[in-house]
Amino acid sequence: MQGESFYWAHRRSNQMSDKPIYVTQPFLPPLEEFTGYLEQIWKNKTLTNGGPFHQQLEKALCDYLGVEHIALFNNGTIALITALQALKIKGEVITTPYSFVATAHSLLWNGIEPVFVDIDPKTLNLDPSKIEAAITSKTTAIMPVHCYGHPCDVEAIQKIAQRHNLKVIYDAAHAFGVQCDCGSVLKHGDLSVLSFHATKVFNTFEGGAIVCPDAKTKHHIDQLKNFGFVDEITVDVAGINGKMSEINAAFGLLQLNHIGAALGKRKRIDELYRSLLKGVKGIRCLENAGEKVANYSYFPILIEEDYPFTRDELYQILKDHNIFSRRYFYPLISEFPMYKSLYSANPNNLLCALNASKRVLCLPIFPDLNGDEIKKIVSKINFGRKS
Ligand SMILES: Cc1ncc(COP(=O)(O)O)c(C=O)c1O
Repeated sequence: MQGESFYWAHRRSNQMSDKPIYVTQPFLPPLEEFTGYLEQIWKNKTLTNGGPFHQQLEKALCDYLGVEHIALFNNGTIALITALQALKIKGEVITTPYSFVATAHSLLWNGIEPVFVDIDPKTLNLDPSKIEAAITSKTTAIMPVHCYGHPCDVEAIQKIAQRHNLKVIYDAAHAFGVQCDCGSVLKHGDLSVLSFHATKVFNTFEGGAIVCPDAKTKHHIDQLKNFGFVDEITVDVAGINGKMSEINAAFGLLQLNHIGAALGKRKRIDELYRSLLKGVKGIRCLENAGEKVANYSYFPILIEEDYPFTRDELYQILKDHNIFSRRYFYPLISEFPMYKSLYSANPNNLLCALNASKRVLCLPIFPDLNGDEIKKIVSKINFGRKS
């Protein structure tokens, strides 16, 4: 760390001249392309309950993602809650503290105790070598997260699950379109849950999905997301309303027409960041975690000891220059009040997660971010030097 004055000089070096750059900006296709879909909805007057666009989107997503069965949802959180219900998960579930809070909340909403296990310092995903020590007689499942769309060590997790007869539900909210050696990463585990929230690489404004291994499981999940109705007069499980509406499904179909171009732009942004940040002392970019096809959903950097500012100082400097990065994931989930008294929330057992949480900064990445904006962001990280 250099002197206070260096920090203040760097902060004062700009006075909010340019337009703000946010960490993300939702991708929206041209408005006129959506009107045809709306006209269809107005014509057939089916607004929800598995209408034609809902059915088309399920099919189109299976084709695009290379999976067999998908159940659409109104958001990823309800999809996570429903996935746990579908597999009748109880007791304790092993999960990561380094994620968005909905991962653990979905467990609490099912009366399940989250058991936090530390992450791998390289991938920032759940560390499989630490899972077995956390298994007790109450453990019924593992809920790992493909953080930033970087695949977990799915083989190692599967072996542990088999050895201990545990279910695996992946929180794959970040992993739309990600492929590893054996195809879609979404095919691993018993179920994988996606989010189509506005901030995600593929968005339906709000939305989500469960990737199911077979038609029977999908049928059961479809029932659960529709209050438990079997037919007009029969309800045989206490379901919820998790249905995606026709407007959201139609928008998803339109988004799919543009997804290739959007992901291509993200890839180029990722490449430009990496080439410009190469050699900036104290800044570490996350490496590939085994993905064959990435989705470039986030651009996290880690601020190391030899960088002249702390992570929070850099966050503030960027903010002073109208650049709004985000500290995903800080604080850790295990630090929130409803979790911090849990035995597994003890920070001494979560040292890698704590370290990453203290050092990480997610830089802006979205399809319309242009080269000049990226150069500006990097020049601020690199103390105003031109790239
Ligand atoms: C890792 C993770 N899990 C779950 C969710 C919840 O998804 P949703 O916002 O669609 O409910 C999100 C993001 O929003 C997320 O980032």
